[in-house]
Amino acid sequence: MEAIIVENISKNYKDIQALKEVSFQVKEGEIFGLIGPDGAGKSTLFRILTTLLLPDSGKGFVAGHPIVEEFKSIRKKVGYMPGKFSLYQDLSVEENLSFFATIFGTTIEENYDLIKDIYEQIEPFKKRLAGKLSGGMKQKLALCCALIHKPEVLFLDEPTTGVDVVSRQEFWEMLAVLKQKGISILVSTPYMEEAILCDRIALILNGEILNIDTPNQMIQNFDKTIYAIKCNRLYDLIHYLRTQDYTESCLPFGENLHLVTKEKVEIEKLKKEIITQGFEQVEIEKITPTIEDVFLHLGQEKKEDAN
Ligand SMILES: Nc1ncnc2c1ncn2[C@@H]1O[C@H](COP(=O)(O)OP(=O)(O)OP(=O)(O)O)[C@@H](O)[C@H]1O
Ligand SMILES: [Mg+2]
Repeated sequence: MEAIIVENISKNYKDIQALKEVSFQVKEGEIFGLIGPDGAGKSTLFRILTTLLLPDSGKGFVAGHPIVEEFKSIRKKVGYMPGKFSLYQDLSVEENLSFFATIFGTTIEENYDLIKDIYEQIEPFKKRLAGKLSGGMKQKLALCCALIHKPEVLFLDEPTTGVDVVSRQEFWEMLAVLKQKGISILVSTPYMEEAILCDRIALILNGEILNIDTPNQMIQNFDKTIYAIKCNRLYDLIHYLRTQDYTESCLPFGENLHLVTKEKVEIEKLKKEIITQGFEQVEIEKITPTIEDVFLHLGQEKKEDAN
């Protein structure tokens, strides 16, 4: 059975189309990532699937229940870690946890096994107010609170945003352990490098799904050649390359630009051409695409289709 089924869900806020006919399925025991930048519609979809918000159209099923008709059953079976404000800042670590246990009609002891490994890391601070915890510790506490009633499906909305790199890594290790325990996980992140830690991912931009696949398959299916190019005047070079016939897309990428070409080009020839145009310190390298490349490329295509 599928843990989550999303069928053509749309949602508007007045004239903003937050979700456009979104569809995907999350298998039982899978870590499924919803990857997308600010405003993509991630939180809107999480609120709809955790039954806090109604869709305008489309269908959804969570743990076998339709989201609108059987919202009460769903609430008992899901754990939800919203991006912000999930903890009571004025309650201590311990008080937060027992509060969440109480609203779900359970106790900390009843399902302690599930959270033990995570909770032990924050237990030394159990008397500390949640508002006084570091980002990484807040995140661990929020995860414990979302797990305390032993949910079947876990919804984690940007759990690693604003958390240091080490804690982010630890967090993904914790998710792998929860997966082993049979919990299905839908997790959103704006960090493209976290995509490879998921079993499957959906790329989402402006309320639309661009692609769904395993991260590796998505990279393999991206059959374009990408060149990383450095030079002294990167932005001028981007403008230049975008006017060339061989260019499919050209985008800034950290200190480089990433050029996707319609067909293979010869690196030495390209380099000469760029130098002839007056650019200096030119370095060109053919690279393996990352999920970010796939995302940027598909996003660019969408934009061009819309124009
Ligand atoms: N309550 C609301 N009223 C009006 N517009 C909203 C509301 N909530 C979200 N939006 C808009 O809907 C779109 C999707 O927002 P959403 O919060 O779902 O995105 P997101 O992917 O979670 O991004 P982020 O978390 O970075 O804000 C955005 O354009 C946002 O401004
Ligand atoms: Mg959000």
